[in-house]
Amino acid sequence: MNNAFHCRAACWLNGKIVPPEQANISVFDHGLLYGDGVFEGIRFYRRRPFRLEAHLDRLFYSARAIALDLPWSRKELVSAVNETIAAYDNPEGYLRLVATRGVGALGIDPRNCTAPSLFVIADALSLVARETREQGARVIVAATRRLPPDGLDPRIKSLNYLNHILARIEATRAGADEAILLNAAGRVAEGTADNVFVVRDGRLMTPPPMEGALAGITRETVLELACAAGIPASETPLAPYDLYTADECFLTGTGAEMIPVAEVDGRRMNACPGPVYRELNRRFRALVNTDNDSMNHA
Ligand SMILES: Cc1ncc(COP(=O)(O)O)c(C=O)c1O
Repeated sequence: MNNAFHCRAACWLNGKIVPPEQANISVFDHGLLYGDGVFEGIRFYRRRPFRLEAHLDRLFYSARAIALDLPWSRKELVSAVNETIAAYDNPEGYLRLVATRGVGALGIDPRNCTAPSLFVIADALSLVARETREQGARVIVAATRRLPPDGLDPRIKSLNYLNHILARIEATRAGADEAILLNAAGRVAEGTADNVFVVRDGRLMTPPPMEGALAGITRETVLELACAAGIPASETPLAPYDLYTADECFLTGTGAEMIPVAEVDGRRMNACPGPVYRELNRRFRALVNTDNDSMNHA
């Protein structure tokens, strides 16, 4: 991070806070050898993890879907998260909670692994520069496709991010801020670490998860905020055409929060940041700054 006030990361590994330079896992961990594990990215504001219950639900569902028995209770995970936040110098930041299949033999068979590993990192994370957040991101549609849902269900937040990384490399090489991946049918799936929304004639639209989008917690929050604001919103399959001809487009995610998009493949949005983005982002900022992160007061 190029933030001058960047704090030293805080790390929690298998039961205790450890100095970052000692937060190491084995080269035999199947999380490293095969990407065999699941994770969550969670933001905390004023030392409070945002929508922690939803993140833990997703973690437990992802683990069950890959037949990984997590030996920690929900309460133990909440403690690990809170201990890590307490050990971090800044009251605001980003948490990475990772559960791997654990240390095993070189073969792929997970029965080789004796016990899952768990670690939590608190650090700063900013997906784009502040100016980009203000002026809007330049986005490309990547040639790299999202893995098909019948290969790996997009609702599983697994440690396999290679095709997202390839799309991210494409964005960097094209001088863009972010890339959007299409699914095998050529419809919009998601960004490399964020969900995609477009606005057309006052209507908010985002692809359904089975188009190849992670069921993002920020995405869900934005859909709830739209409902509270009386903005019509729907999960709708989208083509690149819908990105190119949108009035507004923006990205959402725990790392991204809400990023307005200025252009996609050189086609400029009608407005950036547009009125719908502005209204939803205002409500989002208000929500993360309250003690109750559910929607009763939005
Ligand atoms: C591939 C992908 N899509 C979407 C998202 C946004 O999800 P969330 O809002 O839960 O962070 C993320 C972020 O974790 C992601 O990695």
